[in-house]
Amino acid sequence: MVDVKAPRVAMMDGKLVPYADALVHVDTPAFRYGAMAFEGLRAYWNAQREQLYVYRLPEHLERLAQSAKVMRFRSTPTAGQLAGGVLELLRANDLREDVQVRLMAWVDGSGGSHADGPIRYGAVAKALGRAYDVASGVQACVSSWLRSPDNAIPPRVKAAANYQNARLATMQARIDGYDVALLLDSHGHLTETPTSCVLLVRGGAVVAPPVYADILESVTRDTVLRLARDAGLGTEERPVDRTELYVAEEMFLCGSTAEIVPIVGVDQYPVQDGRPGPITRRLQDLYFHEVRAEGAEAAWVTPVYR
Ligand SMILES: Cc1ncc(COP(=O)(O)O)c(C=O)c1O
Repeated sequence: MVDVKAPRVAMMDGKLVPYADALVHVDTPAFRYGAMAFEGLRAYWNAQREQLYVYRLPEHLERLAQSAKVMRFRSTPTAGQLAGGVLELLRANDLREDVQVRLMAWVDGSGGSHADGPIRYGAVAKALGRAYDVASGVQACVSSWLRSPDNAIPPRVKAAANYQNARLATMQARIDGYDVALLLDSHGHLTETPTSCVLLVRGGAVVAPPVYADILESVTRDTVLRLARDAGLGTEERPVDRTELYVAEEMFLCGSTAEIVPIVGVDQYPVQDGRPGPITRRLQDLYFHEVRAEGAEAAWVTPVYR
């Protein structure tokens, strides 16, 4: 499971502070109502080059700005402030291994759920192991909890409050003996897992629920679709029915934290022979080269050390 070491320092409002001092008051709207937008990024250590690379930093910052806009944050730190803060944080902790960065912006003050308080921001970076086995894959179930829709608590916005929907589904799945939950919308179409996107292989093509399917507009989903196209595979972005999950040739989840993880069974139906399929393994291979700056897309990685 996840192996987390406490880092030396955190970043608060652009300044480095001891990790233990990176605190938020119990009375803030961020704490009381989940009025917080965040991003989970990864940075990968390339031992040969002795360099740490943040993966698709500008895209994560752009998404944070979108979340802040929809949440009507009074102000938002600039992309330059946030990028500078993240890179400084990684250097200050002298991280030379694969890490996860959690970057957050939240409503401060002591108002109610509709409060328009000042915006603060912060980040922590930690060495993080893998939650799932990327080699052997996971068992999934279709959750009886539905995904919250775009016109209620929009999944496109990466707000802390969204993750109550996620937590309910994950807790239920684990209690029922599964690794991960698959969330449907109210029409019975696939959305995503509580913390990652889901893609299938059907007829040899990679199929993804579209961005209007009550999903987070995932950076990794975008990477995977581009890698698939570059590798000559067909791709489709279209609604996915529940029963397609039971007859798919392959299936996997993807996200910055999760990376690419084969789904080898759904609701006790094995996905094909119940083992990770060749397209999933190929995409994993391409992805792990990209994130370590060994792939074709040099613009997708930001070096940390000068
Ligand atoms: C609900 C949800 N969907 C999808 C993803 C994957 O998004 P990304 O690839 O940008 O990390 C995440 C992870 O951040 C998530 O929390």
